[in-house]
Amino acid sequence: MTRPTVYIARRIFPDIVDRLRAHFDVRTHDGEAPLSQPGLIAALQGCAGAFITGSEKIDGVLLAACPQLKAVCTMAVGFNNIDVPACTAHGVVVTNAPGVLTETTADFGFALMMAAARRITESERFLREGRWTHWGYDMFSGGDVHGATLGVLGMGRIGQGIARRGHGGFDMKVAYHNRSHLAPAVEASLGATWMTLPDLLRSVDHLVIVTPYSAETHHLIGAEQLKLMKPGATLTNIARGGVVDDAALAAALADGTIAAAGLDVFEGEPTVDPALLALRNVVLTPHIASASVSTRRAMAGLAVDNLLAALGVGPDAGKPPTILNPDVLA
Ligand code: 8YV
Repeated sequence: MTRPTVYIARRIFPDIVDRLRAHFDVRTHDGEAPLSQPGLIAALQGCAGAFITGSEKIDGVLLAACPQLKAVCTMAVGFNNIDVPACTAHGVVVTNAPGVLTETTADFGFALMMAAARRITESERFLREGRWTHWGYDMFSGGDVHGATLGVLGMGRIGQGIARRGHGGFDMKVAYHNRSHLAPAVEASLGATWMTLPDLLRSVDHLVIVTPYSAETHHLIGAEQLKLMKPGATLTNIARGGVVDDAALAAALADGTIAAAGLDVFEGEPTVDPALLALRNVVLTPHIASASVSTRRAMAGLAVDNLLAALGVGPDAGKPPTILNPDVLA
């Protein structure tokens, strides 16, 4: 009997790929950069399953060109790169990787917020450039994090992780905006108060953005919203490029509308707006919020669990643990 073929779209832990080799013919893309869209379509010909990341785009054109595809499993929690309704229409199972990266990503979001507030990378650059000649009372003074008001935009798992750190660890007041309100008991445990977006922007000292990207959240934070924020406030984006209008943010950082920003995600990444690169009051990292060794292994492992299950192998056969479109199986 011929074995199904699966495609691994990016270089990934070899021992985790071996779990697939035990059951399927495995083809891999071992280059560092993602394939072009025509390259991805060509590579997926004859494949029943695809292991992807947040970089590969799965849309109706690709699905129509790859009729043998039955499952697309991403190791990311975000799935704005996948047209899930189109996958459902083509009978293709889609899974993501929620839960396993929550705490690691919340750690990083908090670190980025602290680095922006306390000017850590800006002052390190100053020191490395040999410009530290004396102590000054106002040298690199920034905003306090402890006791300040934390704003969380998008109160899912990771947002709640950020709020837990702020409330429990740094004695922060926590305000949030989300489509739905948290249950009162959860709000109480996080010390969190729901606010409209304009009220949130006006109230907070440190805003952390963790909301998924969609047509509704495109440029949710632009020039108008930034103007509502306090001049001493910081903005941290660990969600997706596109939730924030990067050009408007660069302008707001340049003219002192807000004090500083921490950005792990960018519109059009890996390209970064040169206006952001030119600023001193922004901490920039290359989309690494989930990048601890154990978490990246857990993300890849969950994607493989899903791929095995979606293609009928193992203890979860037919029941992928974190399926996004269970209707396909009905
Ligand atoms: C990933 C992410 O590093 O999970 C997500 O949604 O943005 C990151 O954790 C990346 O997308 C994995 O492909």
